[in-house]
Amino acid sequence: MGETATGAMRISPEYFVDPHSIHARLREEAAATQIVLPRGLRVWLVTRYEEARFVLADPRFSKDHAGINEVATRHWEGEGDPVMFDQSLVRHMLNSDPPNHTRLRKLVTKAFTPKRVEALRPRIQEITDELLEAAAGQGEVDLVEALAFPLPITVICELLNVPMEHRDDFRRWSNILVAGNQPELLQEAGQAMAGFLAGLVADKRANPGDDFFSALVHASEDDDRLDEVELISMAFLLLVAGHETTVNLIATGVFNLLKHPDQLEKLRADRSLLPGAIEEFLRYEGPVNQATFRYTTEDVQVGDVLIPEGHFVLASLISANRDESRFPDADTFDITRPAGGHLAFGHGVHYCLGAPLARLEGEIAVGSLLDRFDIALAAEPDTLKWRESTLMRGLYSLPVSLSDRG
Ligand code: HEM
Repeated sequence: MGETATGAMRISPEYFVDPHSIHARLREEAAATQIVLPRGLRVWLVTRYEEARFVLADPRFSKDHAGINEVATRHWEGEGDPVMFDQSLVRHMLNSDPPNHTRLRKLVTKAFTPKRVEALRPRIQEITDELLEAAAGQGEVDLVEALAFPLPITVICELLNVPMEHRDDFRRWSNILVAGNQPELLQEAGQAMAGFLAGLVADKRANPGDDFFSALVHASEDDDRLDEVELISMAFLLLVAGHETTVNLIATGVFNLLKHPDQLEKLRADRSLLPGAIEEFLRYEGPVNQATFRYTTEDVQVGDVLIPEGHFVLASLISANRDESRFPDADTFDITRPAGGHLAFGHGVHYCLGAPLARLEGEIAVGSLLDRFDIALAAEPDTLKWRESTLMRGLYSLPVSLSDRG
């Protein structure tokens, strides 16, 4: 980790190989550290559990998209301008503060009921079984391509009526927009994505059905509906949040089980441990590393550090979840530990709306995989490549060998 001219720590490629040991050092040193993200944005990184939880919930850390450009311009150390998303994709609940956040979230919660999520169970099982059937007999497969990626994206695309033939386009744009490591393509991908989603919305308005997306398009709270840009932004958030995260819950979770054969054996011997194992996957190495941007609306004391007004603050969830003061033996992967209270789904008003769906997909995917196959890593753990994203923690690929249990 090098330093920039302003004395901030620059994130270097080694961070993505092993962020945990760097976080452990940062947690020792201070409650918050100034870092420069790979593209050039200077932010405060909060790595301890208590302070991360505080940052996620305190209203003095704003998420309102209206203020973000100005803060970004003042804290930019990169080349050119900080490129922001297409304006028709940003007006969603994760970029809003109460009371607008409350309004947007209420409208989508009406369409995303626990009953609608539970009703997805047979379809999630069916998709999983089809994917596992296709993987059977191949010997060695990449579990990301074979199961972890296609399952959640199929579920969320079916929920939002994205036609099958557009899923590859969709995946490409989404990767560009979320990874952010191809800035020259950001604008074009944003426009393409916004145009595509506008088409889906228009189609649903013209042909409403008894489905989740129709419910969203027509959701109203005291006659307050989502306007066009809010709807497109909402669909964007759901599609991205729904498929860039759960892929890592499944792939990283299985990876850690295979790296810890005693834990795999425990789970095979007692399948009632599965829900707890999913919580430990989330705590030990969850899909989201640094939660999304927040900025201070006044000076705020965070532990031993005073963060001035108008600065970006990122809470590292994977670091908070390894904080020894909250989770004893935090670096030990133990599927029987009480992992409750982890921050993998965030905390406060922006707590993940999709958590019940993500848990359901994770349980069905991992449970069905273990039912059907004996499974082993087909590569040395240290040779696997992690995504170079400060937002998402996940493997590009997970080579495994599968043999049918008969
Ligand atoms: C918010 C994690 C799956 C939809 C969040 C946040 C986190 C998170 C950490 C809060 C971010 C912040 O405060 O900065 C995860 C993880 C998932 C997952 C680890 C999988 C294991 C899903 C799925 C969906 C979804 C499947 C939708 C279908 C959302 C939405 C928000 C959100 C809409 C914004 C909520 C708000 O602003 O009120 N998620 N998520 N997530 N997530 Fe998830």
